[in-house]
Amino acid sequence: MIKKYRFGHPFETGAVIADLPVREGLPEIGEIRADAEGFHFSYVMEKDAAVYGLGETVRGINKRGWHYVSDNSDESFHLEDKTSLYSAHNFLLLGGRQKAGLFFDYPGMMTFDVGYTREDLLTVTCERADLDLYVIIGDSLRDICRSFRRMTGRSYIAPKWALGYGQSRWGYVTPEDFHEVVDTYRSLHIPLDAVYMDIDYMERYKDFTVNAENFPDFAGFVREMKTKKIHLVPIIDAGIKQEKGYDVFEEGLEKGYFVTDEEGKPFDTACWPGLTYHPDFLKADARRWFGRKYTALTDKGIDGFWNDMNEPSLFYTKGSMEKLRINLRQFLSKPAEDSDYFELMGSMRGLRSREAYRHFYHDVDGEKVCHEDIHNLYGYMMTRAAGETFEELFPDRRILLFSRSSYVGMHRYGGIWQGDNKSWWSHILLNLQMSVSLNMTGFLYTGADIGGFGSDTTRDLLLRWLAFGVFTPLMRNHSAWDTRRQECYRFERPEDFAHVIGVRYRLLPYLYSEYVKAALKDDLYFRPLAFDYPEDSMAVRVEDQAMLGDGLMVAPVYTQNAAGRYVYLPEDMLFVKFTPDGIIREEMASGVHFISVALNEVPLFVKKEHILPLASPAESVEDLDEDNLTLLGWVTGKAEYLMYSDDGYTREYENPAHFRVIRME
Ligand code: GLC
Repeated sequence: MIKKYRFGHPFETGAVIADLPVREGLPEIGEIRADAEGFHFSYVMEKDAAVYGLGETVRGINKRGWHYVSDNSDESFHLEDKTSLYSAHNFLLLGGRQKAGLFFDYPGMMTFDVGYTREDLLTVTCERADLDLYVIIGDSLRDICRSFRRMTGRSYIAPKWALGYGQSRWGYVTPEDFHEVVDTYRSLHIPLDAVYMDIDYMERYKDFTVNAENFPDFAGFVREMKTKKIHLVPIIDAGIKQEKGYDVFEEGLEKGYFVTDEEGKPFDTACWPGLTYHPDFLKADARRWFGRKYTALTDKGIDGFWNDMNEPSLFYTKGSMEKLRINLRQFLSKPAEDSDYFELMGSMRGLRSREAYRHFYHDVDGEKVCHEDIHNLYGYMMTRAAGETFEELFPDRRILLFSRSSYVGMHRYGGIWQGDNKSWWSHILLNLQMSVSLNMTGFLYTGADIGGFGSDTTRDLLLRWLAFGVFTPLMRNHSAWDTRRQECYRFERPEDFAHVIGVRYRLLPYLYSEYVKAALKDDLYFRPLAFDYPEDSMAVRVEDQAMLGDGLMVAPVYTQNAAGRYVYLPEDMLFVKFTPDGIIREEMASGVHFISVALNEVPLFVKKEHILPLASPAESVEDLDEDNLTLLGWVTGKAEYLMYSDDGYTREYENPAHFRVIRME
């Protein structure tokens, strides 16, 4: 049961696709004040009842005890004290006796105080009382989630090759750099399906260009990689370089497709290319125009993209740079002994401030809208531009697409990666927790930068992270240019990496089935244990394990120098450990167990009377043999498994021929 309430004049975000009537009055849940002062929702939480949701945020699966702000930010320190990351997913799930889902469809800044100010109080506030609130009531949290997902539309489904392993790094420049990665992976038999192209493939960081000196025959290069069963996935940034003669810049200017200042002139921003203009993705024509630009690369054989810097991340604006220059002149004019450190640092920080969002405008069907009011939609609309183009131009072919910034609704067009994390052990756990929360909000195709984006990784961290990454739909190792190299072959005993990543491919019949089935049924691929065992007081508190699809539970090791970990089994399960010497199986009764797991092993749990189909080892998705499966399970009677398998790239998901029942007796 979903009830929609309207306050003021909401902006049409497109997050919800269901046509629901607006209810009179106020919801029965919580208290609401909506007036010229803003919007204020408050609700007294039941003692010990969990609150879930909010998608991409820091902290645990249960969001209680902290405050979060939906304010899409380029935040590279995913620390516990942060309140905002790259995305806004304003969906909450209230546990306890009175279960409910709350979706606040509001594209500006919004604050969620989940027992931070007062332990038992949830408050949701925003500056303008112009929003739609959806209240969803259901029997279980999973049910409520499914209703939410139904009303916001089916999650994007990636091509199957994009569930293979991908290698990335900011700093691959020449074809030789790419060849080295691919050839080394292949020669060491470490599976690989994709190599990502970060900003260095472009000409002076200009979107939709390729550096012609490095890649004189780009189409030929893409083709050559395809013969090695490798997909190249270039990055696309939100800002367009200001450069005379650059077609995207010239056309955007001529057609009025960039965001403007108060006077209607294109607003100067800056990102990797230096001075840029930002496309007005809120404008349908501009979206269509930008979406068509991707064909410069699809024409060359490219079939996947990652959209970046689309919060939007503004390094500075012409205005903030000018202000800094004035401040610096003043600073330098004073005698050195009067230099004020704090004044100087304050001026520098002002260069990159969110203040800029108040000073540029969008054209929404002829109406001038201040960016500040719709800030959280920007990355969503950029990805929608690409997604809609792909649906139109390639109705028979899936294109990989994921973004850094997002809002609910974007999950129909692409996935997200979890941004600039660090090579920290705590970020393996955060990867699990975020993935679970993101699933609730519709983002099934997601994963973190395995090994960590910033900071120096270590061999053991990378191996442990990969052993969890084996389960995330997006499995990509990515790192920043100034960090220790972290391709698997940079470390001792690459065969350990080959084994761990190899497990991903053996599990793909199951993982791909569960991923597509979850999308088709508006269900969750990853779930907190609390969703499956709501009556189990131990299970509902578990923060470092997750249910995956029909019959699996994952429990990664995420501490350094650990010989294994404690794990809680809410019911009898089969403990399965993939070791380089074979599969170890152990039947385990419900309860707490210590499992020992070496660095080169991948642990997982299969629920009793469930089946896990396994493929034989393969080094690319294309080579996967799904006709000869091994079945794993602790089956005392009979068990069945519904497997989904298709060609991996067409969009005929519902074809009954793609489903088959596997039986084990
Ligand atoms: C941003 C992205 C990161 C990328 C870098 C350079 O920090 O989040 O993934 O490598 O920009 O393009």
